[in-house]
Amino acid sequence: MKTVLFCLLTVLAGSLQAAEDARTLAPMPAAAAANLRTEMRASLLALNEILGLVAAGALRQAAEIAERELGVSAMGKHRSQPFDARPGPHMPPAMHAIGIDGHKAASEFARIAASGDREKTIAALPTLTSACVGCHYSYRLPQ
Ligand code: HEC
Repeated sequence: MKTVLFCLLTVLAGSLQAAEDARTLAPMPAAAAANLRTEMRASLLALNEILGLVAAGALRQAAEIAERELGVSAMGKHRSQPFDARPGPHMPPAMHAIGIDGHKAASEFARIAASGDREKTIAALPTLTSACVGCHYSYRLPQ
């Protein structure tokens, strides 16, 4: 009985959440949204690699990937593409700011990991995901 009730509540909570999607729509051309989604999947891949490398104690390699894939060095990847394919300029300014803060945080993480200090690197890991969570809870793309 408890299980049935739990399932029912879970389904109910799920549908309530879907009905009340309070995230702000970030309208952008299809090409820009597609590029953003591709970049997102690459970010998740990079994050996974960084976690594995930190767990294995390969801090300098983790630092390299963090800077190259998530850090300030990863900004402006689409600069040479047509305007319609560039996600950044189509984002609401507050959303863009979260993105930039995320890149800066990843560069800071990279700096810490490059120092080779395992304790400090582990302590800094959550700073890699704060912007991901902050943005995902606030914004969505057109379907
Ligand atoms: C500035 C905003 C922003 C930041 C920062 C951000 N994302 Fe996203 N991400 C989005 C939006 C918007 C979507 C589309 C969500 C939707 O429409 O439901 C998305 C979608 C995704 C998706 C799904 C891609 C697909 O194929 O549809 C993944 C995976 C993802 N993000 C990973 C990440 C990770 C990992 C980070 C942090 C390292 C991150 N994102 C940071 C805005 C952001």
